[in-house]
Amino acid sequence: MFDFKYFTPTKVIFGKDTEKQVADLIKEFGGTKVLIHYGGGSVVRSGLLKKVTDILEEAGINFVTLGGAVPNPHLSLVYEGIELCKREGVDFILAVGGGSAIDSAKAIGYGVANDGDVWDFYDYKRQATGCLPLGVILTMSATGSEMSSSSVITKEEGLVKRGYSSDFGRPKFAIMNPVLTMTLPDYQTACGCTDIMMHTMERYFSNGGNMELTDALAEGLLRTVMKNAVILRDEPENYDARAEVMWAGSLSHNGLTGCGNDGGDWATHKLEHELGGLYDVAHGAGLAALWGTWARYVYKDCLPRFKKFALNVMGVEAVGTDEEIAVRGIEAMEDFYRSINMPTNLRELGVDPTEEEYADMAHKCAAGVGGKMGSAKVLYEEDMLAIYKQSL
Ligand code: NZQ
Ligand code: ZN
Repeated sequence: MFDFKYFTPTKVIFGKDTEKQVADLIKEFGGTKVLIHYGGGSVVRSGLLKKVTDILEEAGINFVTLGGAVPNPHLSLVYEGIELCKREGVDFILAVGGGSAIDSAKAIGYGVANDGDVWDFYDYKRQATGCLPLGVILTMSATGSEMSSSSVITKEEGLVKRGYSSDFGRPKFAIMNPVLTMTLPDYQTACGCTDIMMHTMERYFSNGGNMELTDALAEGLLRTVMKNAVILRDEPENYDARAEVMWAGSLSHNGLTGCGNDGGDWATHKLEHELGGLYDVAHGAGLAALWGTWARYVYKDCLPRFKKFALNVMGVEAVGTDEEIAVRGIEAMEDFYRSINMPTNLRELGVDPTEEEYADMAHKCAAGVGGKMGSAKVLYEEDMLAIYKQSL
């Protein structure tokens, strides 16, 4: 077991109608002039934005609004948000939406609190020394950004998608009302469940350190999300299933399911980020399309964990060699993806890269990780290229 730091300062307010507490929470964390940041309009259509602005007006809290955070959120809107905050004297950001609105809000927060170009942080050139305080009203269970230290932004020039992590960016509060996720398209619900599971799987498939308790939490979380993803496929308005998935999303990416290990693998995420940057695919679907190929490429180098996963998560029978059990576990995971209409290869994802695009993704991915990545198996640029190509 490795030493670890577990830091989750976000105050969670979970349950029905919790968005009604937003004004009190903003005041509690010192906000007097708020930027309400949101995505492409789902919160306008659902009436949530109007509800929130009414509550703030009634509480006498000044605000400005900025929508338009697209899936795989763009740097240009981040710059716009930074300018708006500076011009308007904003001292608190409220993200209302999914991971993209939250990540964009974090980047705006870094840009206001630090001089110079905010992209420097995403380009690994320097570290932020602060962030505007931010709160979240979550409308999609997926990224865990509502409690995580990370934010992922795409620079349109060159289509470079990069993540940056800093404890300064962790939200002060997260309002989580499972009812707000009921307007999600089925595809996005399934993408979210896939992403939630992958945040724990990235930590689980590691060759360094482990804790029995962490493994038990991880395996329980994965089984819970699988079960409830299938319920939501058939009953999208099932409140309890929405609630299970929502809480799992936060716990899966706030560090809990990685305590005591070496930090995890993260190769599937890094590979997906290049796909998302280039083709603008939904993050969860991109992960599902790559995972099986990655798993087959690496499992022999991480056999004990793949066997444990097959037995304890996928319910595979303990019959045959360790390798056979591990492979049946991978196949069972792919069956699960199919059962919730997620792709298991690039073709099903709707992507058919050219030779140049394969090479470009592998090159950018390698550059983004300093040449190598992975714990289950260390991967270099030629491995990344091979996984992309085998994923077709
Ligand atoms: O933009 P709007 O109109 O709001 O529509 C969104 C979007 O089209 C829609 N949506 C969200 N909530 C809804 C809803 N539609 C109806 N009803 C609702 N209640 O769903 C679509 C996807 O939303 P988005 O925020 O893009 O999804 P997600 O939460 O999956 O975020 C994806 C982004 O987060 C990054 C991904 O790479 C991607 O850029 N990630 C962030 C992480 C983090 N900060 O910790 C970790 C993740 O691994 C991930 O990389
Ligand atoms: Zn993810």
